[in-house]
Amino acid sequence: LLAPFCSSESYAMQGFCPEIASSSGKILIKGGTVVNAHHKELADVYIEDGVIVSVRPNIRVSDDIRIIDATGKYVMPGGIDPHTHLEMEFMGTVAIDDFFTGQAAALAGGTTMHIDFVIPINGNLSAGFTSYMDKAKKSVMDYGFHMAITKWDEAVSREMEVMVKENGINSFKFFMAYKGSFMINDEFLLQGFQKCKSLGALAMVHAENGDAVAEGQKRMIDLGITGPEGHALSRPPVLEGEATGRAIHLASFVNTPLYVVHVMSIDAMEEINKARKSGQRVVGEPVVSGLILDESVLWDPDFITAAKFVMSPPIRKSGHGKALQGALATGVLQLVGTDHCTFNSTQKSMGINDFRKIPNGVNGMEERMHLIWDAMVESGKISETDYVRITSTECAKIFNIYPRKGAILEGSDADIIVLNPNASFRISAVSHHSGIDTNVYEGRTGKGKVEVTISGGRVVWEEGILKVSSGSGRYIKMPPFSYLFDGIEKADARYLASLHAPVRRSTATY
Ligand code: URP
Ligand code: ZN
Ligand code: ZN
Ligand code: ZN
Repeated sequence: LLAPFCSSESYAMQGFCPEIASSSGKILIKGGTVVNAHHKELADVYIEDGVIVSVRPNIRVSDDIRIIDATGKYVMPGGIDPHTHLEMEFMGTVAIDDFFTGQAAALAGGTTMHIDFVIPINGNLSAGFTSYMDKAKKSVMDYGFHMAITKWDEAVSREMEVMVKENGINSFKFFMAYKGSFMINDEFLLQGFQKCKSLGALAMVHAENGDAVAEGQKRMIDLGITGPEGHALSRPPVLEGEATGRAIHLASFVNTPLYVVHVMSIDAMEEINKARKSGQRVVGEPVVSGLILDESVLWDPDFITAAKFVMSPPIRKSGHGKALQGALATGVLQLVGTDHCTFNSTQKSMGINDFRKIPNGVNGMEERMHLIWDAMVESGKISETDYVRITSTECAKIFNIYPRKGAILEGSDADIIVLNPNASFRISAVSHHSGIDTNVYEGRTGKGKVEVTISGGRVVWEEGILKVSSGSGRYIKMPPFSYLFDGIEKADARYLASLHAPVRRSTATY
């Protein structure tokens, strides 16, 4: 047998496949352990024209086909980062990594798709969408979009429908923090949740009590605490727990699924745990910084060293990260993001005299796959299959693009990584591919190294070399009504029936 699924006549006659011989889009990954979220097995993976054509042991191809030897290594779906902010205008500046540098960095770290947040322009969703499609023209890997809802009126509500039905957006993020800029109140949150439900779009929340944060910040400034530690002190876990609980209760009232982004504290995680135990559909997304780091770094006497760790919600006291890792291992939390939103030292210096002016955000797109492998799989906390689930598959399912993404199956996109469990990684701003001059994981080492990244069937990372081409990334439209919406209407029908019964009884008494 030669190439799988060769339909050419010359193959039947001479054992020669003309497409394979002539194209560079054909690759065989041989001898590795293929890991999917549902199963792992020793198998080869054959790719043609950006798509996985065959996954089974002992695939044989002609001599001229590119072969990648994966013996002793894991062959896994490329990572999908559900939470990034490339070239985001925020806090008076613009995030340094754009759709070229951020994505190139991601590919070097084994992530082959990300979902970024479109920020509306003066509340206008279409203008925001157009602007982000434009920013993304230099993409080097596939990407999708969530959209932030930063104000509420009839026009926004109408435009949400356009975004879902025409533009491939199936999730909207509401900010319960950032008072005076992105924050919206409970009345609008409720209306936003209702609109999301009617469209089959997933409601997402940045859960911190923005009013209390503003109060906490004032408290710190009044005490003369102006450094980066003031950031952590002004917005403690209780404010994240409160907002998480509030969003969950409102989502329950509306009966719509909820996705809590960047779960940073035990307080927020416990709210999610409680809701899920009661049967509510709540998804919790911890981010790498919250799983790996602790807040002590915010007390570093060197301003820049401390300021690079400022993000919201803040990185918490040691203990929270381990608890979040445990929650991820046991299914209380479901997938890992990064909240990659990078600002260089000059930008972070905007807050040298006032922590409230430090642009919020940390790196992670390049580091996520390595750090999670080392912290969770290498340490024995989760299996390889669970690793694939929390870094790729679950994200693809939640955002309704599975099994095109998030799986190594026949017909899936050829977004694949080869990870060598016996090699090690080392993180440094000197060698990373992001555009920033610092790295919150500076000097960290660990086991497991992504040696090859294949994006859309092209080998884009191997032997420590990136081969990306601007404009090769595609916009992936995400359809509404993911599995999280299955059965929602049945629960609604039951609820309505329960309301009508007593009404009939009371009319009978007249
Ligand atoms: O600090 C953060 N998280 N920056 C990005 C914006 C957001 O809230 O996700
Ligand atoms: Zn052929
Ligand atoms: Zn946020
Ligand atoms: Zn974010």
